[in-house]
Amino acid sequence: MKKFLPLLILSLICLSVFGQKKSSPALRADMLIRQMTLDEKIGQLNQYTSDRNATGKITADGDKANQVRQGKVGSMLNVVGAEETRKLQELAMQSRLKIPMIFGLDVIHGFRTTFPVPLAETATWDVALMEKSARIAATEAAAYGIHWTFAPMVDVARDPRWGRVMEGAGEDTYLGSLVAKARVNGFQGNGLGNTDAVMACAKHFAAYGAAVGGRDYNSVDMSLRQLNETYLPPFKAAAEANVATFMNSFNDINGIPATANKYIQRDLLKNQWNYKGFVVSDWGSIGEMVAHGYAKNGYEAAMKAIIAGSDMDMESRCYRDHLKQLVLDKKVDISIINDAVKRILIKKFELGLFEDPYRFCNIEREKQQTDNVANREVAREIGKKSIVLLKNEKLSNGKTLLPLSKQTKRVALIGPLFKATTANHGFWSVAFPDDTARIVSQYQGIKNQLDKNSEILYSKGCNINDTDTSGFEAAIATAKAADVVILSLGEAADMSGEAKSRSSLQLPGVQEELMKEIYKTGKPIVLLLNTGRPLIFNWAADNIPAILYTWWLGTEAGNSIADVVFGDYNPAGKLPMSFPRTEGQIPIYYNHYSTGRPAKDENDKNYVSAYIDLQNSPRFPFGYGLSYTKFNISNLKLSANELAINGGKLTVTVDVENAGDYDGEEVVQLYVRDLFGCVVRPVKELKGFKKLFLKKGETQSVSFTLTATDLKFYNDEVKLINEAGDYELFVGNSSDAHLKTKCKLTL
Ligand code: GLC
Repeated sequence: MKKFLPLLILSLICLSVFGQKKSSPALRADMLIRQMTLDEKIGQLNQYTSDRNATGKITADGDKANQVRQGKVGSMLNVVGAEETRKLQELAMQSRLKIPMIFGLDVIHGFRTTFPVPLAETATWDVALMEKSARIAATEAAAYGIHWTFAPMVDVARDPRWGRVMEGAGEDTYLGSLVAKARVNGFQGNGLGNTDAVMACAKHFAAYGAAVGGRDYNSVDMSLRQLNETYLPPFKAAAEANVATFMNSFNDINGIPATANKYIQRDLLKNQWNYKGFVVSDWGSIGEMVAHGYAKNGYEAAMKAIIAGSDMDMESRCYRDHLKQLVLDKKVDISIINDAVKRILIKKFELGLFEDPYRFCNIEREKQQTDNVANREVAREIGKKSIVLLKNEKLSNGKTLLPLSKQTKRVALIGPLFKATTANHGFWSVAFPDDTARIVSQYQGIKNQLDKNSEILYSKGCNINDTDTSGFEAAIATAKAADVVILSLGEAADMSGEAKSRSSLQLPGVQEELMKEIYKTGKPIVLLLNTGRPLIFNWAADNIPAILYTWWLGTEAGNSIADVVFGDYNPAGKLPMSFPRTEGQIPIYYNHYSTGRPAKDENDKNYVSAYIDLQNSPRFPFGYGLSYTKFNISNLKLSANELAINGGKLTVTVDVENAGDYDGEEVVQLYVRDLFGCVVRPVKELKGFKKLFLKKGETQSVSFTLTATDLKFYNDEVKLINEAGDYELFVGNSSDAHLKTKCKLTL
């Protein structure tokens, strides 16, 4: 009997862990942890990439399959497909305790259907639509065996030299917090355990977008007040939306690498915010603490990271190689290991993987998501709504160039991006062999909608980023033979994204020279700018009559662009970042402090905070975007002139008139200014926005509700407070809003 006892206990435990669905994931995790050896626990904290489409440096070592079989790998990333994930899961099921693996992937803006890059999606200012985009991405990815996306990236970013601005929601904390919540809800859907829901991951924790010089991976140094005021709220919003995981960032914050930053990962996230999910390191960031000069070796790096709250080690192997010794050396208490393991196991239970490790490995479901036409329609919709009309001035005939008539006789399509296909997916898209065939190029999109009796003339004109001007002559001839020219210029898709910081934001190569040559032909020009970041294009902004910012719009890019160019959709996008006039203006953002010598206008240089050689304003401000119609915002009214801190509510109302010739949408924005504070306060802060559709000639009134909570800010003791005092309120269709009134916040 004695020799059967251990077996009996083990089978009872397994029954309770695997069999009883009714026990909570936390209880089941506790039961399982009691059975795990230290090696098995450390295995759960270890994550490897597959050797395909790696998104970082690959470490070629050992036989990963065997390590999976031995229960030494808790998760893998960059494994795609029902079959491929099943094969690896089958290996995991050969381990002693049969603990399933979780498969992660960067599903940042789509999966089989690629949506606009996140910065472009944010330009829709349509939170529900961004949630829908994430929902579709999750459904498609989950059908391909993915349990976990490393998204949303919620880093506030004020520096367009940083290539990863394309991946987030731009410069504003309020907008970024709403987008963070929407994307988490989209990815996680009706909750983990549904086979169309994936774990989301709020990244990169924290302040990665504030890298000095906009140089990726560079240091971040700021007050805790600024960190809490500007960079942490989108992470808090994600946590409040029950985001399943966090990912830390590569940068050091105030001298301590985020990966070992106990303040943000343990004190703030896990204690103050009471966060119950787990933290995965970014790729190799634990081992990188040696290069940071913060750890002498992998042993010390593993110790500092696990104690600071990094639960899973992506790709550095420091946990695999050193945690056991750290425990034996009593440098790391087993309770810390158990906490990390428990957080990870709870998610595996919530995903239902103990009941059925293969529940996401369903070939039939995968086939249904291989080319979903309805999803493409959503991609087309969000694509056209991401486009920002920057300029559409009247020509000598008194008419604006856009929208173009579909009956235009001869249209010249010129530029290196018209026939591009995968470029339209931008950075952080998931590559598939048939992408080229599935993507609607800009050329094809225009062709699809132009009248059959019209003629398309095409010239590439130049490459994206070299000095070859041999194509200019043909391009000039093409332009001369046409009635109107559409130019499609911009960056290469891999000029923004990770490790893609640029010191110059000008159009690369000889594209601006090509544009100037085409301009000399005197033909009317529509300019499309394709990129993942704000660019600097002053000559075009001064001389080209019609400019559409088309970002990278994904699988349906060509159709989305044509919908706007020909007016089937009246553009309503609004910039999620300030666009600088020169790199010298960076960092530039709308919600800056006044300073003691604010410039009174954009040309004031008289002993004020300004550059003597440049206007004081951005080229295009945050929240800016035109329409084919004209909206008038007027009649700003308040329900009262005072707002009580305790429970008060203030209603702000304006009238919005569509005074132009087209039906269209406008994004009405509410900004506040706290005139005097115990710390200096921004000259404007976005506190509300409403996107509304108005038929031409129609007028609607729009209301916003403000409460004292909306006006809270961090004081110099890093406490979130309200402070009675005078406020100005602004309403408009960009951060340049001038319609203004006052109110008092009262005790
Ligand atoms: C990369 C990125 C991170 C991504 C991870 C896995 O280095 O910084 O955003 O999720 O590695 O690909």
